[in-house]
Amino acid sequence: MLQAERTFIAIKSESIQRGLIGDFVTRFERRGMKLVACKMVVPTRELMESHYKKTDEWFLKVGTNKTKYLQEHGVNVAESPIDIGKGVQQALVNSFIGKPVLAMIWEGANAVALGRKTVGSTDPMSADIGSIRGDFTIESQGLAESSDRAIRTLIHASGSVDEGKDEIAMWFTPAEIIDYPLVLEEVLYGDNWGHCANYQDKV
Ligand code: CDP
Ligand code: MG
Repeated sequence: MLQAERTFIAIKSESIQRGLIGDFVTRFERRGMKLVACKMVVPTRELMESHYKKTDEWFLKVGTNKTKYLQEHGVNVAESPIDIGKGVQQALVNSFIGKPVLAMIWEGANAVALGRKTVGSTDPMSADIGSIRGDFTIESQGLAESSDRAIRTLIHASGSVDEGKDEIAMWFTPAEIIDYPLVLEEVLYGDNWGHCANYQDKV
């Protein structure tokens, strides 16, 4: 049976400055996902620190990559990879402070996996053409590392169903999430419509 799923998507400030909100929203709409919440937010440091609360595994992965890149380019690296990874996280959090983000929740079958596919992989240079990160920027991990900043990835999408649940609870109150029927769902899901949208349970 199809299950309703929700994903948290945030259009980052660099994309708002570039006038890309409409292009990005269109991609989710066109796929057949349903917008159930949307607002502009200027996030606090506290919100961004919980949103980008990363594990040691993430620090190590990001820090090791960056160390390798810097060493290949003749830079002497004194800090440990974990500390380098923590530095990337701080640069990332700082890049959000004082600037607007468009926060959204999109619903549908497999919303989290489809959200990731629509957004593309983290390094825009290796993101598939046809994904947002693959189509709308010349950014790369190398460019970000050589400029000592976080990769400008244009948009955020939850990485897993559990991450999505946590992020939705961080960014939205239940009252801000709107339940409504969309004709599109009947067309896309047919007989499974009520189950997929959990619509009958909600009205
Ligand atoms: O955004 P996504 O889920 O694809 O990647 P992440 O691993 O959850 O990292 C969150 C954000 O950290 C990315 O969108 C980048 O802005 C930044 N990042 C970075 O600057 N350098 C990396 N090596 C990995 C991520
Ligand atoms: Mg992520």
